[in-house]
Amino acid sequence: MRINKKLLLITALCSGMVFLQSFTQKHDDDRPVNLQVLPKDISEKDLHNVMRNWSMALGVRCGYCHVNTQQPGQEHHQFDWASDMKKEKQTAREMLKMTMAINEAHLAKIKTMGDPLEQIVCVTCHMGRTTPIISVDSLPRAPKPAK
Ligand code: HEC
Ligand code: HEC
Repeated sequence: MRINKKLLLITALCSGMVFLQSFTQKHDDDRPVNLQVLPKDISEKDLHNVMRNWSMALGVRCGYCHVNTQQPGQEHHQFDWASDMKKEKQTAREMLKMTMAINEAHLAKIKTMGDPLEQIVCVTCHMGRTTPIISVDSLPRAPKPAK
């Protein structure tokens, strides 16, 4: 399945441009080896923008989805980026597929003349939380009923 280019662009645009030290230290022979949904030829910059964007959308850091292999005595976090051991990473893959399916199968049918709201991204639902608000009762302020 190919990722929707526009979705990727939006996620890239929404995200900051701050690079993690651990990430910029990577070399060319550290190309991703376990991308199952994102395009395998994604650039390092775009991949990092997507990852940073997901982290911000859920209000988490990389270790929420990626296995931390830091040993006692090691100064910096070490991650096994390719590992699928954390269920959160596997959930995130399903979420990406779901988001793409909603955009491609449903929202694409509702053309609103270039309105950015015609696409959804992680933050549309998550709004900085791992668990989205699922009831109007849990909104920070009670909504005014529509007239
Ligand atoms: C919400 C979960 C989540 C968060 C948070 C997250 N990632 Fe990921 N990451 C994933 C998923 C899922 C994949 C695999 C995507 C795929 O299969 O197409 C991935 C893949 C990667 C890969 C490629 C690994 C390989 O060799 O295949 C790197 C590198 C990576 N992430 C770095 C980061 C960094 C750096 C951060 C923090 C800024 C981060 N991730 C935060 C879920 C996450
Ligand atoms: C259409 C709304 C929606 C979108 C879009 C969405 N999510 Fe979710 N997400 C949910 C819901 C609902 C849950 C379930 C929360 C629960 O049951 O605890 C969830 C749960 C998750 C979880 C598991 C949280 C936990 O507590 O284990 C992860 C990780 C996640 N989403 C990542 C993502 C990522 C990454 C994206 C974008 C690629 C995304 N989601 C897009 C609605 C959404």
